[in-house]
Amino acid sequence: MPSVANVGGSITSAVALTLLAWAVRFIRSAHNKRVGAARRPPEVAQTNTTHSRFYTCLSPASIQLLVETNPFPHCIFDVCPDRPAAPEKLPPCLSAAVRLPAKQVQAVLGGGMTAWMSHSSASQHPMPSPHHFIVFISGNEAEMEEAANAAAACAFEHVAVLQGSLSHFDEAVNAQGHLRYIHRDALAILLQRQNTSGSTFRLLDVRRSDERMLFGSIEGSCHLPAHQLPAALQWPPSSFEAAYHFPKPTLQDLIILQSRTHKRAAWAAQAAIDAGYKHCIVYRQGTYGWRLHPSVKAYKSYELGHAPPEPDVQDPDSINHSTAQAELLQLYSHPQPHGEPSSDVADDLRA
Ligand SMILES: *[C@@H]1O[C@H](CO)[C@@H](O)[C@H](O)[C@H]1NC(C)=O
Ligand SMILES: *[C@@H]1O[C@H](CO)[C@@H](O)[C@H](O)[C@H]1NC(C)=O
Ligand SMILES: *[C@@H]1O[C@H](CO)[C@@H](O)[C@H](O)[C@H]1NC(C)=O
Repeated sequence: MPSVANVGGSITSAVALTLLAWAVRFIRSAHNKRVGAARRPPEVAQTNTTHSRFYTCLSPASIQLLVETNPFPHCIFDVCPDRPAAPEKLPPCLSAAVRLPAKQVQAVLGGGMTAWMSHSSASQHPMPSPHHFIVFISGNEAEMEEAANAAAACAFEHVAVLQGSLSHFDEAVNAQGHLRYIHRDALAILLQRQNTSGSTFRLLDVRRSDERMLFGSIEGSCHLPAHQLPAALQWPPSSFEAAYHFPKPTLQDLIILQSRTHKRAAWAAQAAIDAGYKHCIVYRQGTYGWRLHPSVKAYKSYELGHAPPEPDVQDPDSINHSTAQAELLQLYSHPQPHGEPSSDVADDLRA
């Protein structure tokens, strides 16, 4: 363990390594319990069936996050029945959805601006472009799937449908546990440790390619843009690796998600949980708060196609080892709300 000798600060590196080892295990076991208690998403079978489907499923929690935090351009459609009577009452966060019967999806999404503007509900919203993330919600599963297939046929690349029932939407959101977060110094220490002792987790950068190219990326991160993540996590490992140039994480792997701040990372973490990933953590400060390496620059948010901003000037910083250790310890000693640490963590403590 050559390059981690400086981890300890006031304690020896051996003790520090032990702390880190059980912190990682703790994070895993605590998160595992949370997911188990809250809701068990269906295991995603990596077969030809899912690979040939052109849309993915999102939980109520990730659809609500999408609406609340607007992590990337998207459009939500309420696939209403093809008659005006008795519109289904939508959860408040979805009240701005475009109302569009399944039978009209192809005509309205594939018919250009004229078709969009001549539809009464659609015309009140900006027309989505093919790189927009499209979500269909409905009380009727068959109509929702028909709509999703029609959108995919109109060359929309990122299409999703609501997983579960619309009438239990709010209930499902409330039943969902909180996302877990990690802060900069603890993440930096985990990355250093990863470097010397092999892979224990994967840091996923869910920003766009242009942001990574122009403003740098955290060393050791792998790139998987947030809007592509739900579909990518359905792919067979070989297709995933061919597209993203790193091995597809397994459902048991610890993944830490990271964006410019944390909005997209939080959305992506929820989408990964939807896909059956059991150990997802959001890096809180994002590249904006990294400041540990001059190649990672801070910048204001901007949309694809707009002029990128000048990087913000920030004072460089260094890892605060006591902050890092405090967080890793905290993760262990306050296992809120998941009860006692598992016995393997206790074994690590005694070691
Ligand atoms: C997927 O399809 C290919 C070719 O069509 C076939 O060889 C393979 O066995 C299928 N895999 C599964 C898991 O069904
Ligand atoms: C990982 O190790 C390489 C080679 O020793 C070094 O250049 C790099 O800075 C290290 N990265 C981290 C995050 O410590
Ligand atoms: C590390 O953080 C702690 C608490 O935030 C602070 O009191 C301490 O001065 C920091 N240490 C260094 C070296 O910056």
